[in-house]
Amino acid sequence: MSISDNVRARMVEGSWVRKMFEEGAVLKQRYGEENVFDLSLGNPVMEPPPEFAQELKRLVENPLPGMHRYMANAGYSETRAAVAAQLSLETSLEFTMNDIVMTCGAAGGLNVVLKTILNPGEEVVVFAPYFLEFGNYIDNHGGVTKVVPTDEQFIPKLDALEAAITARTKGVIINSPNNPTGVVYSEDFIHQLGDLLGRKESQYGTHIFLISDEAYRKIIYDGLKYPPVFHHHRHTVVTTSHSKDLALPGERIGYIAIHPECSQREELVGGFIFCNRTLGFVNAPALMQHAVQNLQQVTVSVAEYQKKRDFLYGHLVEMGYSLVKPQGAFYMFPKSPLEDDVAFVNELQQWNVLAVPGRGFGSPGHFRLSYCVSDRTLEGSLAGFKKAAQKLNLC
Ligand SMILES: Cc1ncc(COP(=O)(O)O)c(C=O)c1O
Repeated sequence: MSISDNVRARMVEGSWVRKMFEEGAVLKQRYGEENVFDLSLGNPVMEPPPEFAQELKRLVENPLPGMHRYMANAGYSETRAAVAAQLSLETSLEFTMNDIVMTCGAAGGLNVVLKTILNPGEEVVVFAPYFLEFGNYIDNHGGVTKVVPTDEQFIPKLDALEAAITARTKGVIINSPNNPTGVVYSEDFIHQLGDLLGRKESQYGTHIFLISDEAYRKIIYDGLKYPPVFHHHRHTVVTTSHSKDLALPGERIGYIAIHPECSQREELVGGFIFCNRTLGFVNAPALMQHAVQNLQQVTVSVAEYQKKRDFLYGHLVEMGYSLVKPQGAFYMFPKSPLEDDVAFVNELQQWNVLAVPGRGFGSPGHFRLSYCVSDRTLEGSLAGFKKAAQKLNLC
């Protein structure tokens, strides 16, 4: 056998989104693209804001000398400085370019951070339901994933976290706004979390990194303000990208930001830069770094996503589905009307509606819907949800 046992096992275990993608492709071929309502993928249907095209045009018309060459592995100073200025505005902390490393998306950033901090066998906590790639990224760098549950509202259970932390705990990954639930953590919750991590650090004489995956930070509804995680734990590292807020997932542009007062900050940032290089990313894409430099205050239309959330949430509740109202990102995570979430997702497929079973996020008994799709797809999906609800007597 040429493929490793670990990769084979992980390919089988973590392939729910891919499985839905493949089954969707078969359905689309059989019934026609327009008759299949695919709510399984987090691939934004929105185009990037017009300012992005203007930046590209400016760069093409006024090329900078050497703009396609290799650069310092941390990225362009000007781009890092622009990100630092924006973060200083958002957090009132004083970030400089030395706190920022440009990365190939949040995924690249997470791998760089985990590679930098993990010794073999050290533990990283995630909260179920979670973006299953976290487990793969932790495994990439020899770490061990510890899964801690959330409550009915999908807020992590701090007593369970307290019990899960050991002398080997190196990090805790949070993701707010959350994929797959859409939940946004309150300032009070983050404060309690930071407090707990601080106490555990003192107890064990260790550093426990709060790794905050903020891929959806700017997609937040109902006038809510995002509470900066940095304020509540000094050993905080944020990873994020412009995949969602500027609708550029294919362009692979993001960054790591470290708390300016994190202990051993310089060595850590040196580690991030080294790992950005040696993991083979080398640097974040040059053209994209130039393009996003002036777009730090630009975001896709959040109102548009909120409209989609309201539409789908309202209809699902009316049909009798049980779900927590999402406050951000573009996902919702209703309870599966059947105990077996895979059976329910198969039921939806009978009506040409594609969703992902909750077990694809470590939480069976739910299913994930992604509403970053066209209004036509959302509208078209309602008949299938309704038929499944009627069949299962939800109303
Ligand atoms: C929670 C979460 N983190 C990270 C990522 C990776 O995003 P990026 O395109 O920035 O690598 C995604 C993508 O869907 C995500 O949902």
